[in-house]
Amino acid sequence: MIELNKIYNEDCLVGLKKIPDKSVNLIAIDPPYNIGKADWDLICKLIGKYDYKLLLNKYMKSRYIFNNQNLPSVWQHEPIKQNGHTTPKPIEILKNIILTSSNEGDTILDCFMGSGSTAIACIYTNRNYIGFELNKNYYTIAKNRIDTCLENNKLHIN
Ligand SMILES: C[S@@+](CC[C@H](N)C(=O)[O-])C[C@H]1O[C@@H](n2cnc3c(N)ncnc32)[C@H](O)[C@@H]1O
Repeated sequence: MIELNKIYNEDCLVGLKKIPDKSVNLIAIDPPYNIGKADWDLICKLIGKYDYKLLLNKYMKSRYIFNNQNLPSVWQHEPIKQNGHTTPKPIEILKNIILTSSNEGDTILDCFMGSGSTAIACIYTNRNYIGFELNKNYYTIAKNRIDTCLENNKLHIN
């Protein structure tokens, strides 16, 4: 059984099968840049019954939660400091996504945690997370960042 607030060092295509139905409120992913359509179709099949086009169509027609914060259409952020991952994302952007599309106490899934930015954004916004990261080195970086975040409760971690 999958535990909440934990990153698993495993292929998400394996890990996703262990997540019980209807236990995730929001999927927030930053997939590897070379992902192809065939991979998307497989991930969509594992996540639900939709293929990618149907999922996109459904998403366009209905958003379940949108906590409007009068956000502009383009969010500008400073590039973040390198943390050992090649493509880390700013925590503030992830916090915005999570705050606008989920509620406190919800569970957020990130299949491609990288250096753990989504997990840290979840800690700051009082959400639970489930994460997967295939690369052992990135998994260790993520784990260390999360431990530091929980220990220091710092407001700015990059
Ligand atoms: C674009 S990066 C995510 C960066 C992350 N948002 C951050 O801020 O650090 C995508 C990550 O997906 C991981 N990955 C690729 N294929 C995967 C798979 N099948 N299962 C789990 N992780 C995978 C890569 O190792 C990489 O770290």
